[in-house]
Amino acid sequence: MRKYKLFGLAVLCTTMACTKQQKVEDFQSLEETRFNDNWKFSKGEIKDGMSVELNDEQWRHLDLPHDWAIEGPFSNDYNARCGALPFHGEGWYRKDFTVPVKAEGKQAFVRFEGVMNNAEVFINGEKVGDRPYGYIGFEVDLTPYLKYGQENTIAVKCDPEDLSSRWYPGAGIYRDVWIEFKNPVHIAMDGTFIKTPSITKEKAEVTIDIDLVNASTKLGDLTVETVVTNLKGEKVGSTSSSIKIKKQEEKTTTQTLAIQNPELWTMENPHLYTATTLVKQGDKVVDKYTSTFGVRDIEFTVKGGFKLNGERVELKGVCLHHDQGPLGSAVNRRAKERQLQIMKDMGVNAIRTSHNPPSEALLDLCDEMGLVVIDEAFDVWRMPKVENGYNKEYDEWSERDLVDMIRRDRNHPSIIMWSIGNEILEQYDKKGYLEARRLVKITKAEDTSRPTTAGFNNIVAAIKHGLADEVDIIGMNYFPMRYEQVQKDHPNWIIYGSETSSCTSSRGYYEHPVTPTYDRASHQVTSYDLVGPGWAYPPDLEFDMLANTPSALGQFMWTGFDYLGEPTPYGGKDNSTNGYWNGDFPVHSSYFGTVDLCGFPKDRFYLYQAEWSDKPMVHVLPHWNWEGKEGQNIPVYAYTNAEEVELIVNGKSMGKKVKGKDLTPIKMTHRDWKSEKPYMSKYRLNWDIPYTPGTIEVVAYTDGKEVARKVVKTAGKPHHVELIADRSLLASDGKDVSYITANVVDKNGNFCYTVSNDIQFQIEGDGKIAGVGNGDASSITPLQGNHMEVFNGKALVIVQGTKNAKTPIKLTAKANGLETTSIEVSFQPAL
Ligand code: GAL
Repeated sequence: MRKYKLFGLAVLCTTMACTKQQKVEDFQSLEETRFNDNWKFSKGEIKDGMSVELNDEQWRHLDLPHDWAIEGPFSNDYNARCGALPFHGEGWYRKDFTVPVKAEGKQAFVRFEGVMNNAEVFINGEKVGDRPYGYIGFEVDLTPYLKYGQENTIAVKCDPEDLSSRWYPGAGIYRDVWIEFKNPVHIAMDGTFIKTPSITKEKAEVTIDIDLVNASTKLGDLTVETVVTNLKGEKVGSTSSSIKIKKQEEKTTTQTLAIQNPELWTMENPHLYTATTLVKQGDKVVDKYTSTFGVRDIEFTVKGGFKLNGERVELKGVCLHHDQGPLGSAVNRRAKERQLQIMKDMGVNAIRTSHNPPSEALLDLCDEMGLVVIDEAFDVWRMPKVENGYNKEYDEWSERDLVDMIRRDRNHPSIIMWSIGNEILEQYDKKGYLEARRLVKITKAEDTSRPTTAGFNNIVAAIKHGLADEVDIIGMNYFPMRYEQVQKDHPNWIIYGSETSSCTSSRGYYEHPVTPTYDRASHQVTSYDLVGPGWAYPPDLEFDMLANTPSALGQFMWTGFDYLGEPTPYGGKDNSTNGYWNGDFPVHSSYFGTVDLCGFPKDRFYLYQAEWSDKPMVHVLPHWNWEGKEGQNIPVYAYTNAEEVELIVNGKSMGKKVKGKDLTPIKMTHRDWKSEKPYMSKYRLNWDIPYTPGTIEVVAYTDGKEVARKVVKTAGKPHHVELIADRSLLASDGKDVSYITANVVDKNGNFCYTVSNDIQFQIEGDGKIAGVGNGDASSITPLQGNHMEVFNGKALVIVQGTKNAKTPIKLTAKANGLETTSIEVSFQPAL
């Protein structure tokens, strides 16, 4: 991460350049600034799309980040495996901007945090860079072709290929873009590496590697000064050194300093320090570079597991893909923060960025929120998983992509492991170990302070072909019943569940009796959480197997959030997919999440929360609207972290059940568990209750005292839409969003669990509807629209303020037969 405040030049653009107000970027200074606003976009092939002469006035005007595919429509013409959305084909972005005369003699860089994908960048018609991998950031040097005091045109071509991903990748310039004018002597992009080799209560030793560049024609006689400040902005350490750097040379210099009584980066108190490095030539500051870091110690041992600052921490992790549901892949910091908050509420302390380098925003947030991270480079090496995948670029780009990931991310205290790949097919190749060895070597050359890992879905093959021997820590995807044996056979290995469970479900949907089967026609999977593909298994089994293997570090369940694409179990291989898996349209998003695409919790969220969170909780399922099933037995499940739970139905106690003692028989779906004998779960409490409308209530007790309670009522006729905003005050920065839940309720405010009313949303004030959703994997109502049918009673509308917004947003919800309701969201100035 870099943030600059340099060359405090207030540069006014020339009169000539200012005449085209719409098209001109008015640089107030030459420090690194966001380069996101006032771009033009056109989808489709454009001949000479980079040409300065091209008339692009009719193109769509927009601000970045942008994902062109999320606008839809959902269609069977697009691969359901990738979200059934139009992400492939050419798309062009252009932007005109004026460079002040005073920038002459400096080097101009534009940094893209990520472009999806096959990006080519042109300045004034000349190509200055390209990058096939959509998940990696890159910088282009505009200097040779830049015109000073005049208008310049930057053009970016993206060309995502059809059938190039196993999930929804998004499309376009979907992460932030920055521009900076640097002096010829400067610190390189991602050019600091901060380590804390020794930490005691009294003192932390800090080393800072600084990559200097001298692009000038003279020897650089430099002073490099670094000051470290704490979160309050107080100076806690500093150092200064002199260095000579020859013309046209790049050189790394290392500084050391100490922080007295350091405040550690912990999960509870993720303290961050800032190092500000000044590069001086004489008295003149030629570069200023800030780096954020944490003081923390990580350790992995067979006996001690994962230790953070000397204390063992079980990894309670989730795998996350990069999309943000209705907002698609265009990075929005608040959307990511909300995702992580929801995961933390479930008790999560670790994230695996499956299966690619994440956005910088995600890692910044993990640093700030105290989550640890496995940063993953690749889903594929040379052997393809899809028709047009990254394997095509692998030979040429893998080293650079891996190095760039590590350099970008190495200062994040949240990152604890580097993953070189997920379920790499080279597991099955007897020479696969050589490739693993190459990637580990590249990783180690960049950073030895964190271990390497990989997610192996066939540990037997990964052992046989030597890949498992190459990485420091063995990630096992699925097959938890193998943990014990692997640990026994390899007592020196450190293992963990890099991907677990893959249970599938639809929020609020239940089938009776409870069986491990799914209904092909409804496109919904029962939320009793026993269904999944052949390699899946209920969370219960993972909890038990980890308890049997205390040396294992923990797990990363698949997945925290539902994501676009991969609508397993609805899909298969057919002629149209050349033997690769495809989803059954109209389903287009996953069922794996503990929360749906909108972030609404499914029952499984509470099954994990009961094991992972200490905050007293109890949950009950299913809903209690079983019209037509009066008198029939309905299986009721409760999840809790308390000692016992009492079920009360219509005021009458059905007795208490004790967690860990009263076991619930469940059937499994896993292909290795063919036994007809039910599995006895310690994690679910179960009663079978004849249905009568009314109230079911669960009361949780610990030490005989009530610690939590939940009530579910039979709802009457739908009456109105209850609107609940997650935040009613937004920053007026043009980015901030409020997530407004629309619940259909009866006249007494009881939630209507089974209804599907279509709701029209109208917005007034300084804002727009940024997305709508309902979490139904089979709904093809556009996610960028102004209406949505509720799915099992709920929908979501995301509102976003305009830049400098003042007039509060008023959102109104209307639906046939329901009373109209509205809600307000106000603004405060951007920070
Ligand atoms: C794994 C894979 C994931 C996802 C998951 C679904 O094998 O690594 O990307 O496909 O299966 O269960």
